[in-house]
Amino acid sequence: MADHMIIMITGTRTGIGRALAEHFLESGHQVVGCSRRPATIDHPNYRHHQLDLADAGQIRTMFRNVRGEHSHLDALINNAGTSTMNHFMTTPDEVSRRLFDINFFAVLNCCREAVKLLRKTCGATASILNVSTVAVPWALDGHLAYSASKSAVEQLVRVMSKELAPFGIRVNGIGLPPVPTVLTRSVPQRKIDELVARQAIQRICTMPDIVGPVEFLIGQQSAFVTGETIFLGGVN
Ligand SMILES: NC(=O)c1ccc[n+]([C@@H]2O[C@H](COP(=O)([O-])OP(=O)(O)OC[C@H]3O[C@@H](n4cnc5c(N)ncnc54)[C@H](OP(=O)(O)O)[C@@H]3O)[C@@H](O)[C@H]2O)c1
Repeated sequence: MADHMIIMITGTRTGIGRALAEHFLESGHQVVGCSRRPATIDHPNYRHHQLDLADAGQIRTMFRNVRGEHSHLDALINNAGTSTMNHFMTTPDEVSRRLFDINFFAVLNCCREAVKLLRKTCGATASILNVSTVAVPWALDGHLAYSASKSAVEQLVRVMSKELAPFGIRVNGIGLPPVPTVLTRSVPQRKIDELVARQAIQRICTMPDIVGPVEFLIGQQSAFVTGETIFLGGVN
């Protein structure tokens, strides 16, 4: 990775987003984060924006403020997301729509706004990284809306990588198996164990497993990689 990057990460209040933000701050980078609730990170190189990513107007306002502070961005990590576990027959329409608003449309809107700053990165390529899930390749029952919204994100990765290559912007994804966070705390341990047993590497994914691949995908070592979603743990 370059010595000093400006990295925007969505969903930095808890979980994977927070851990990534803290890692990049410790490594000397600047991080712009966001969530609905107030920041849980206190660091001189960290700036937090409070918004609901389901609201496109609030996303535009956030990026207007980011452009006021930064002349460019090196990377956008679309991490914020939510899930629901329910049989599709009993999932209300508004739950599925809200899920798509956060997991897909917010990603699309953040990409559109971020490109204005990513294309101004000098020299090296800038990049977008989107977080996906094993619920897509495994077509997990009970996760129809969640996995469909993340399938849409994986298609976004493929199409956008072509549309943004002329601007020097790479677009990739990282597909995660279960990780112990707020998102998974209501999932029964038996269910988590079943999922871990399906991985080629049969142990729970932790933050150090994620940091390396994320650094690779947003750094210059992957300057010739775009349009890919890389899954961790061996899920095929
Ligand atoms: N944990 C896993 O096992 C796992 C597995 C595969 C993929 N993933 C993916 O990894 C990503 C991060 O998940 P996580 O496990 O770290 O979840 P998490 O701990 O629940 O964190 C989600 C973050 O997103 C923010 N957020 C949620 N909805 C938002 C909204 N509408 N507007 C703004 N911010 C919002 C939350 O803050 P606020 O509540 O303050 O808004 C929080 O900071 C998600 O995309 C998830 O699908 C997770």
